[in-house]
Amino acid sequence: MSDFTSSKRILLGITGGVAAYKSAELVRLMVKAGMDVQVVMTDAACEFITPATLQALSGKPVFTSLWDNRIDNGMAHIEFTRDRDAVVIAPASADFIAKLAHGVADDLLSTLCLARDCPLLVAPAMNKQMWENPATQRNAALLRQDGIALLGPASGVQACGEEGLGRMLEPADLLEAIEAYFMPKLLPGKNILITAGPTFEAIDAVRGITNLSSGKMGYAVARAALEAGAHVTLVSGQTCLPPPAQARFISVVSAQEMLNAVNEQLSDTDIFISVAAVADYYVLNPSEQKIKKDAHILTLELAPNPDILANVVNGPNPPFCVGFAAESENLYEFAELKRHRKNLPLLAANLAQDAIGSDESELTLFDDAGAHPLPRGNKIQLARQLIAHIAQLYHTTKK
Ligand code: C5P
Repeated sequence: MSDFTSSKRILLGITGGVAAYKSAELVRLMVKAGMDVQVVMTDAACEFITPATLQALSGKPVFTSLWDNRIDNGMAHIEFTRDRDAVVIAPASADFIAKLAHGVADDLLSTLCLARDCPLLVAPAMNKQMWENPATQRNAALLRQDGIALLGPASGVQACGEEGLGRMLEPADLLEAIEAYFMPKLLPGKNILITAGPTFEAIDAVRGITNLSSGKMGYAVARAALEAGAHVTLVSGQTCLPPPAQARFISVVSAQEMLNAVNEQLSDTDIFISVAAVADYYVLNPSEQKIKKDAHILTLELAPNPDILANVVNGPNPPFCVGFAAESENLYEFAELKRHRKNLPLLAANLAQDAIGSDESELTLFDDAGAHPLPRGNKIQLARQLIAHIAQLYHTTKK
């Protein structure tokens, strides 16, 4: 499958706001993701960060003036967007949003936005009172009406010390939003329920048994499903990862809690993707207090946990179900056996030693047509291919 985002050619416009310092990191991340980035700055942006920084990070000269004679025909405002897949303004000040809303073209960046023939994505960044001001809200609504995508703003502590809505999205979140914009909407409006991460089964107040699982694959699958236009609910065991901004997020600890959360969501789920590494056993009668150590052998009684995926597959009106398997050997044989035993249309399998905790993995998809090994890649690339495969099977079974 081609990568829809890496080769994108973006014109990044930077306007005058303190969040401009984050644009340097955004450029770095975009370039790292394989995008070609041309930076254009307003005069006010140059008061916050120098063009030299952006030039070094983007590897291209930065433009700031309508009257720049480095463009042969003197028409930078026309030339600049003709070979671009999108214009992204980050940060977009209240003043610049007002200009965009009303078609004001009095500098290079505002003029090329008016003259562009590609999509425009805008990441607002301003003090919360400025964002909440009815004038700014009117202008933001006009942008939406004009088909311009607003990325954020986010909420949080602001440079001025106040707290509220108006912060620019963090660079990593902006990159995600830009990538999501370009992804084909393969599952628009579908409700996708995903489990991720490990479960933790308490032994006492401070100890427990768990599985090795970072949650990275499940969170990547959630992100890929969001990019495909789905509504995503992510039921997650304890991980160190930030929840995907656009997903409904339910945090759980034990397998029983995960089962309960899944059952509550099932009635309006179209697709269930079970990525979680669920502990196979829980401890009978865990101690409420910390068990004091002594010289004796401690015996724990373990009882099998419910199989969450099996419960869903064998329940009434099951959604389209996808399982995951991490094996340590005989991947093809064990994965196919598991797929048949669990009665699944699709199972994604990898070698545990290759995948756990790592950003990269090798994934093979097993369905009725056989095994489909995916090229080794990072987990978001694999998750996108998995979602594309799910969309194809899901639409075929629904026909
Ligand atoms: O642990 P096992 O290899 O059987 O896991 C296969 C699939 O079943 C995975 O998708 C996993 O999330 C799911 N599973 C589950 N509940 C369990 C055990 C596994 O949902 N108790």
